Amino acid sequence: MNKSIKNICCIGAGYVGGPTMAVIADNCPDITVNVVDINKDRIESWNSSNLNELPIYEPGLDKIIERRRNKNLFFSNKVQENISNADMIFISVNTPTKKKGLGAGKASDLKWVEACARQVARFAKGYTIVVEKSTLPVKTAEVIKTILEAAELNNACKNLKFEVLSNPEFLAEGTAINDLEFPDRVLIGGENEDAILSLHKIYRNWVPEEKILHTNIWSSELAKLTANAFLAQRISSINSIGALCEATGADVREVARAIGTDSRIGSKFLDAGPGFGGSCFKKDILNLVYLSEYFGLPEVANFWEGIVKFNTWHQHRLSRLIIKKLFGTVSGKKICILGFAFKANTNDTRESAAINICKDLIEEGAILFIHDPKVDPKQIEIDLEKKEKYSNNKLKNQTQTLSEGGWYSTKNIIDSSDGADAIVVLTEWEEYGQLDWEEISRKLRKPAWVFDVRSIIPYDKIKALDLNFWKIGDGSK
Ligand code: NAD
Ligand code: UGA
Repeated sequence: MNKSIKNICCIGAGYVGGPTMAVIADNCPDITVNVVDINKDRIESWNSSNLNELPIYEPGLDKIIERRRNKNLFFSNKVQENISNADMIFISVNTPTKKKGLGAGKASDLKWVEACARQVARFAKGYTIVVEKSTLPVKTAEVIKTILEAAELNNACKNLKFEVLSNPEFLAEGTAINDLEFPDRVLIGGENEDAILSLHKIYRNWVPEEKILHTNIWSSELAKLTANAFLAQRISSINSIGALCEATGADVREVARAIGTDSRIGSKFLDAGPGFGGSCFKKDILNLVYLSEYFGLPEVANFWEGIVKFNTWHQHRLSRLIIKKLFGTVSGKKICILGFAFKANTNDTRESAAINICKDLIEEGAILFIHDPKVDPKQIEIDLEKKEKYSNNKLKNQTQTLSEGGWYSTKNIIDSSDGADAIVVLTEWEEYGQLDWEEISRKLRKPAWVFDVRSIIPYDKIKALDLNFWKIGDGSK
């Protein structure tokens, strides 16, 4: 049954559902795209007339929303109605690591995916193609299929018919729109040629034919986990070499450049930093670990688990290093943290390295002034599991009144460096590469340290100043 798609419903209006559907709507003006979510606040923000209030900060997204919203792109909480009207349904809900029960700490929690499948089974009409957009463990399609097939049998009179496809998303936050517009590849896994063709046709509106890959459904599910595992593995690899560079006098950027010119290795994803963050790398590797254990492959499981363990060790290594450089104690010392998002150009803080590093420093009694251009201080409060100390700006600058072991949010880097012992750059926001170091240096309490964990600070701007400088993976200074 070759189906021409006129009406899409996407369940889940998050970091994937929102941008992905916006780009589909933008490239397929004849298709109506309904993005639904159970979270009322999120949908309200997607519908806000102020485009600065969209729930997700992603460069270029606001322009597409402005162009397509309420034309062929709609955001609502009407889950049931939009499932009923859809020819094709994307499941784009969260799949976090299970917190309790079987597989806790490793396996993905599929309760939201299962809930979606049950909603689809209940409300869909006629022939519907169900697309897994969430990142899912291998064989999840089977779970979805089983639920949908039960609905087909129980509602024989409704002529229900489902096909399930896997179409994992490879976008990275901060570059999501570009990644969606110009993907390296689009992956479609499935068994039914007609269903595959229906989805293929949608992507063909803007993606070249040769970039749309077809595989069986399990390869598609596993390819997504594998891609994230390989990418994360590169980061742990380069960070491990960075630690060795610091110990030996080498510079990790030079090593990365030297190995990156080998076309078999490639130059991307070799930036040493505070360790990978984001909602997916850790979760997806742990999922791979769980699957490997489940299928009786403990050596495979251990291999991948090492990548996550190293990443956590690396983050704590950085906290310890900062403390050591500040004479072995940060108790009562003021430290400016630049950047809290897990990478630049996103407001997402999930699994950000800044969380572990800030928690460690607070635990040791430091007073942190945290700056991030896009992250809401309320989110920092949730992540650090600690309330901000004062909200009164005046008090914030009177360091003598500060008690140890807490944090403050700040919008003014210069003011907050007043009396601080250190500046720590944790996210590579462009503006941190353009700071007025002369002015900051005048404000800092000497001897002061600058910790550049993202290699973003131009050394020539600070080398003449009375500052100690440490850069990730640089043993040459
Ligand atoms: P998210 O938490 O930002 O969004 C998920 C949304 O689904 C939430 O708004 C939640 O309210 C909604 N939801 C949950 N159950 C629902 C239900 N039954 N009905 C309606 N709405 C429901 O998550 P995300 O970052 O968009 O990730 C979604 C999936 O995509 C995950 O599997 C993730 O691994 C994968 N992924 C994420 C990224 C990324 O960059 N964030 C990239 C590629 C793939
Ligand atoms: C990652 C993948 O890049 C996407 O392809 C994938 O779709 C997505 O996960 C997902 O499944 O969620 P994302 O986490 O948004 O995307 O961002 P990345 O650019 O991959 O960065 C992840 C983390 O690694 C960040 O903390 C980043 O700062 C860090 N990183 C990245 C480095 O430390 N060094 C690098 O060279 C690259």
